[in-house]
Amino acid sequence: MSKTALITGILGQDGPYLAKLLLEKGYKVYGMIRRYSNPNFENLNYVGITNKVDYLEGDMTDESSIINIVKNIRPDEIYNLAAQSFVGSSWQQARLTAEINAIGVLSLLNAIKFFSPTTKFYQASTSEMFGIEHTSGYQDENTCFHPRSPYGVSKVYAYWITVNYRESYNLFTSNGILFNHESPIRGIQFVTRKITDGIARIKLGLAKDLHLGNMEPRRDWGFAGDYVEAMYLMLQQEKPDDYVVGTGENYSIKEFAEKAFGYAGISDWEKYVVIDPKYKRPAEVPNLKSRPEKAMKALGWKPKVSFDELVKMMVDADLERLSKK
Ligand code: NAP
Ligand code: GDD
Repeated sequence: MSKTALITGILGQDGPYLAKLLLEKGYKVYGMIRRYSNPNFENLNYVGITNKVDYLEGDMTDESSIINIVKNIRPDEIYNLAAQSFVGSSWQQARLTAEINAIGVLSLLNAIKFFSPTTKFYQASTSEMFGIEHTSGYQDENTCFHPRSPYGVSKVYAYWITVNYRESYNLFTSNGILFNHESPIRGIQFVTRKITDGIARIKLGLAKDLHLGNMEPRRDWGFAGDYVEAMYLMLQQEKPDDYVVGTGENYSIKEFAEKAFGYAGISDWEKYVVIDPKYKRPAEVPNLKSRPEKAMKALGWKPKVSFDELVKMMVDADLERLSKK
């Protein structure tokens, strides 16, 4: 009998990569989608698996839809990727962010507890929970949380309720504390994709400049396709646990932009960038850098795509996409 998995947030960036991996491993994959009338399959089309997934209608803010799905399919594994994941919007929609990212996770865990207690659960936790600058210069499983956005705060609740249900009810629930990961199907407003899309537009004469906010923060950027392997591995362990997943390297937004422009053959890149206060955040996360030793040792995981390869992959994909149009 093949294993079954439910992926929430399947239409986002990580969902398609994870679904592809699980399908390759012989899983039957269910994907929860909220806009059943008009779903956007673009990212699933990109990885070529749109017709291989079974779709179920549900919303993280609608507990009855979550209960119905879990009760009906009782999957072996649930990967909870659904979220209002854009940090910038979380100040504008703080309550909705909390309802989806925090209370939605509680609904999923209750559905598992009451209707499918053998289901293994993966929670998409985040380096954004670490927030402020840490004197050690890196973050790992022992680093304190000090979130700096309503998004980060909502994810801290989700992290701890995942731990609490493990400790209270002996459920198999694991947190992957993932650092930033990107790809050609990254949402267009996240800074890496905004930069690579903007560069392609400038290169092809479709735009004159690129508006960005704070160029100083540093991020530990990896490739999404590598990170979904860590998610899968966490649920194959004998015991549930929490793991930091990242590359251990970081770069500033400025360094990313410089490399991406350079790769596209534009050396005088600074003249195209307009610093726009609209994109600055009320509170910033200055420096994220992982120490992923635990994941590397316990899961045998390591990133395969380097920073340079990632930048190249994203610039190439946006140039190709816009050239076709
Ligand atoms: P993403 O591209 O923003 O995808 C999130 C998905 O969640 C979207 O498909 C969205 O559906 C769905 N969703 C939003 N609200 C929902 C609701 N109320 N009910 C059901 N589904 C809902 O995010 P991602 O980059 O793939 O990240 C996956 C997860 O990992 C997220 O939880 C994110 O917070 C977390 N994470 C991401 C990173 C990263 O660097 N990418 C790092 C750490 C953690 P629609 O398509 O309908 O909008
Ligand atoms: N989005 C955006 N747009 N960010 C900008 C811009 C801009 O024009 N200009 C500068 N930045 C800076 C932000 O202030 C932030 O410091 C950094 O670029 C990265 O922003 P994002 O790409 O939006 O990602 P994030 O780090 O805030 O959040 C992502 O990573 C988290 C993991 O650390 C998201 O994927 C979260 O969902 C995820 O949890």
